[in-house]
Amino acid sequence: MNSPLATQPLSQAADLDSFWMPFTANRQFKARPRMLQSAEGLYYTDVQGRQILDGTAGLWCCNAGHGRREIAEAVSRQISQMDFAPTFQMGHPLPFELAERLAEIAPAGLNRVFFTNSGSESVDTALKIALAYHRARGEGTRRMLIGRELAYHGVGFGGISVGGIPNNRRAYTTLPHVDHLPHTLDVQNNAFTRGLPAQGAELADQLERLVTLHGAENIAAVIVEPMSGSAGVILPPVGYLQRLREITRKHGILLIFDEVITGFGRVGAPFASQRWGVTPDLMTVAKGLTNGAIPMGAVLLDGELQEALMQGPEGQIEFFHGYTYSGHPVAAAAALATLDIYAREGLLTRAAELEAYWQEALHSLAGHPHVIDIRNTGLVGAVHLASRDNAPGSRGYEVFERSFWDGLMVRCTGDIIALSPPLTIEREQIDRLVDILGNALRQTA
Ligand SMILES: Cc1ncc(COP(=O)(O)O)c(C=O)c1O
Repeated sequence: MNSPLATQPLSQAADLDSFWMPFTANRQFKARPRMLQSAEGLYYTDVQGRQILDGTAGLWCCNAGHGRREIAEAVSRQISQMDFAPTFQMGHPLPFELAERLAEIAPAGLNRVFFTNSGSESVDTALKIALAYHRARGEGTRRMLIGRELAYHGVGFGGISVGGIPNNRRAYTTLPHVDHLPHTLDVQNNAFTRGLPAQGAELADQLERLVTLHGAENIAAVIVEPMSGSAGVILPPVGYLQRLREITRKHGILLIFDEVITGFGRVGAPFASQRWGVTPDLMTVAKGLTNGAIPMGAVLLDGELQEALMQGPEGQIEFFHGYTYSGHPVAAAAALATLDIYAREGLLTRAAELEAYWQEALHSLAGHPHVIDIRNTGLVGAVHLASRDNAPGSRGYEVFERSFWDGLMVRCTGDIIALSPPLTIEREQIDRLVDILGNALRQTA
């Protein structure tokens, strides 16, 4: 674990200019690129042949680990048999089969599925369904969408509007008729809590304040991540989601869970909704749906919502929305193969089995320099570092970079190190992850 921070090859910037990398400090990256070349099981291999333990399941998506042959074969078979077929006024069997399979593992009642290609598209789709639903029921004044501070709902205009990460919104225009609940991060009172914090359920009552302010008759939906991932693993206080459900139901407001990260086993049940016992009206998914192999997302919704839109003549399109690639046959084949793996290997509940071990391993980092909080649930974790004066984010980035060169991929979001390894991880690999991260923390001033 000798950190070669100073010995990496110098920039090949001339070769790297054309690709404008997303959510990346391009100049910084291109000065010292981290280039991955292959992946198998729990490990990436970079272009220099070094093995890197995947502490983030790619980008929260490769829940079954890498190089899954069954997915590659299903994709290859499907491309050969039929590369593409439209789903606008046409059909092919795979998305029908996939929708049924998703409804089987979804929270009870969420038995309709609208396919998209990403989490961002799923969020915008869910928001549009909510608006269309109220309008179809003669409650067209319900136009307002309520999100939450620090939320990440992707990068579409709908998603950034209900999202609450300042850098993701401030350079752009956002939708009108949007308000936000307060976030639930409370390091002062809840630091080093194992699992969900006991304090903070009352933050959900802020929704009552927004209802009083705007009028229930003007509010269409509330969208939250049951657990915020991208903002640095912010957990729902015990009872918080239940309270949101009670208040939304009382006022006829739809509740949307954005499960793009929490879906497909991340928190120890197929969906966070089941883990924490709260059923929303709509749920967005992506990422783990295909194990990250092919882009695909979906909105799962209560059948009654679709029913409300189908009151016109039979020949009338009920929802003017869709993507060329909604229900793409190759993506659907990848998703079906992924669901087979999840079922066969028990991966949708494996995080619950490993949770205690994961929790203790992570919390062993508590005494390390600058660590002000550690948060965990299922197979997710965050190590929250104190920020340097006048240089927020620089310490987190250094830990991220050092870990990478020492053979571990983590995420940093500001000064928070986020962890979400493939659900196939074994105890020895958890130990290795914590060793490398601990070393990076010790070496970072
Ligand atoms: C909760 C949540 N919603 C939406 C998205 C956006 O997904 P995508 O990047 O596939 O558009 C993400 C991505 O991390 C996410 O975490």
